Amino acid sequence: MTLILGIDTSCDDTGVGIAELHPDGHVTVRANRVWSQTVHASYGGVMPELASREHVERIDAVMQDALKEADVTVHDLGAVAATSGPGLVGALLVGLMYGKGLAQGLDLPFHATHHLEGHIFAAASDADLQPPYLALVVSGGHTHLFDVPKEGQYDLVGATRDDAAGEAFDKVARLAGLGYPGGPAISEAARHGDPKAVPFKVPLAGQKGYEFSFSGLKTAALLAHRAGAKPEDLAASFQAVAVKSLVQTTTRAARDLGRRTVVVSGGVAANTALREAFQQTELRVVFPGKGLNTDNGAMIALAGAAAIRAGRLAHGLDDGATAYAPLASG
Ligand code: KG4
Ligand code: ZN
Repeated sequence: MTLILGIDTSCDDTGVGIAELHPDGHVTVRANRVWSQTVHASYGGVMPELASREHVERIDAVMQDALKEADVTVHDLGAVAATSGPGLVGALLVGLMYGKGLAQGLDLPFHATHHLEGHIFAAASDADLQPPYLALVVSGGHTHLFDVPKEGQYDLVGATRDDAAGEAFDKVARLAGLGYPGGPAISEAARHGDPKAVPFKVPLAGQKGYEFSFSGLKTAALLAHRAGAKPEDLAASFQAVAVKSLVQTTTRAARDLGRRTVVVSGGVAANTALREAFQQTELRVVFPGKGLNTDNGAMIALAGAAAIRAGRLAHGLDDGATAYAPLASG
């Protein structure tokens, strides 16, 4: 049995989690503690320097909480993993340096982890779930569709041309006066609205590729709002078309590539309408468990556990923080 500590400070959540890798390859989450920063609320967006400072102030307490939740001490840990990118460099550095320091002090292997690999393993860490599969990561910063033909290989199949899916939820919620973060606000308002009230068109309908686009929808939502659409109807109609776009394109890619399993993760994977629409397809669709959709440290611990299970060696001490880092193939 190996306990892996995972840290994510890529944006505005200070996340520390602990995963347990059992001898049979099975993994479980032992702790998942997240401090979500509220300091940015009045700015309408994340202020990078404030995020870094808050990570510095909070990380030790979040770490102690995680150890307490798992009922272990640092001496029980077998490996440390931390996000090295992509993200806000100053914010990333806090978790990365904290993790490296801990690993060196305790003489443990250190895994520098890609944030999107973390999101994928938030859903795909089960030993029964082996590649090949498609992975759709839909969050506030990413809308990426990967083909995962084998362990550790990520071939980008499609991505958004403009806004990320979660970003579009946030912006539409804001223009409709529904609050922040927009995903849960839209989802809640949509329950009281008519998904057919605003006739949004599915973006990139008829394309041969597997790209996404949400900025046109955002403009269409603004025009509908100015024309007097009710916020609940706007929310229901926007959610319906965003879900349709994600599900249709992913399903078509799965069919074309001969994949039967799709892993859907990232903050937007918490969306009930999206989950229901995917469950109605013929695909085997896997979502993260509770508390693992939005940014957290447990997903980084799970990615570390998967790397150890697959015999991928830790070599992360030389890796620096990177703002932009494509999820590599190979
Ligand atoms: O994965 P995440 O915590 O951060 C990034 O790595 O970007 O995702 C946050 C995003 C936000 O845009 C938020 O509005 C969206 O996920 N989100 C949702 C829901 N819950 C969170 N979007 C749609 N429906 C939800 N229930
Ligand atoms: Zn994320």
